[in-house]
Amino acid sequence: MTSTYDLDLDRAVAALREGRLVAFPTETVYGLGADAENEAAVARIFAVKERPRNHPLIVHVASAQELPRWAAEVPAAAEQLAAACWPGPLTLLLRKAARVPTATTGGLQSVGLRVPAHPMALELLRRFGGGVAAPSANRFGRVSPTSAAHVRADLGDDVDVLLDGGSCDVGVESTIVDLTGTVPVLLRPGGVTVEQIEALLGVSVGRCASAEVRAPGMLASHYAPRARVELVPAAALAERAAELSRRGQRVAVMLAPGDAAARQELRADGGVFVLDLGGSDADAAQRLYAALRQADVDSADVVLASVPESRGLGAALADRLMKAAGPR
Ligand code: TXA
Ligand code: MG
Repeated sequence: MTSTYDLDLDRAVAALREGRLVAFPTETVYGLGADAENEAAVARIFAVKERPRNHPLIVHVASAQELPRWAAEVPAAAEQLAAACWPGPLTLLLRKAARVPTATTGGLQSVGLRVPAHPMALELLRRFGGGVAAPSANRFGRVSPTSAAHVRADLGDDVDVLLDGGSCDVGVESTIVDLTGTVPVLLRPGGVTVEQIEALLGVSVGRCASAEVRAPGMLASHYAPRARVELVPAAALAERAAELSRRGQRVAVMLAPGDAAARQELRADGGVFVLDLGGSDADAAQRLYAALRQADVDSADVVLASVPESRGLGAALADRLMKAAGPR
């Protein structure tokens, strides 16, 4: 008997072949996928996401063996990182092969490639056989979806097929490393830490200015809920929450692993409620986007959070929080 799982995957593959859009789970966030070589299909991704056309898409492939098909050149560092980290939350930027349309790469001569570590995504990629171009399955600038329900809430009928693979394990987007230059450069911190990458390659990784955690005022808003996001030192969380509440604001306090003291001091009342991110950075990454969405569901005016230490997975958390707090 053919299972629902098989039928769903077959429907998804058929949709990709017809140039339609498939939302699918990955270990990081849900992606909004199209045939990476079909320019019309890729154009629909940009239209549905309301995303500027010069923002390149990541091409998802079934295994590291596909690298030479999609990249014009595969440096040793790419082979090393792919062997160690794929399937997994790491995107490698390489010089693109001719088959990759510039519509997919936002006009660039490089391509972002990744093998996602989610059984449903991998099975989709294997059955489809090609590359699937996919950004996160949310409208541009909004919070990335970590469940099928999030995708439905954001994109509704604009998605032709939605594969439900449960909640995403990692919860924040992949780490992006640019390998097109003489030294590897980190463009976005994510599920694979820069410390891991440096240990694997035995060289230090450059930090791109735009990926660095800077003053909130310098960052364009991204990953943002409707509620305003305010970052305060952990020691000031409880006091700031009380102050905003006194002024009549509805306050969601996001408690990260390092906020144990605030947990003791916080007084939940009519105006203040807690969004608990759990006891480890991995828990916090997994829950971050759902918590930001929950703040909106619960009609918070403001989300208060402390910035985690920018080490290990904390770097990805800090990056996303700073962007969520950026000017609108
Ligand atoms: O975890 C992820 O990476 C998720 C899942 C679905 O795989 N995808 C994702 O895609 O986060 P998106 O489009 O939301 O973010 C991709 C980022 C963008 O900031 C884009 O600018 C960058 O990757 N990117 C992709 N290709 C690039 C390229 N050739 N050069 C520079 N940046 C690139
Ligand atoms: Mg995105």
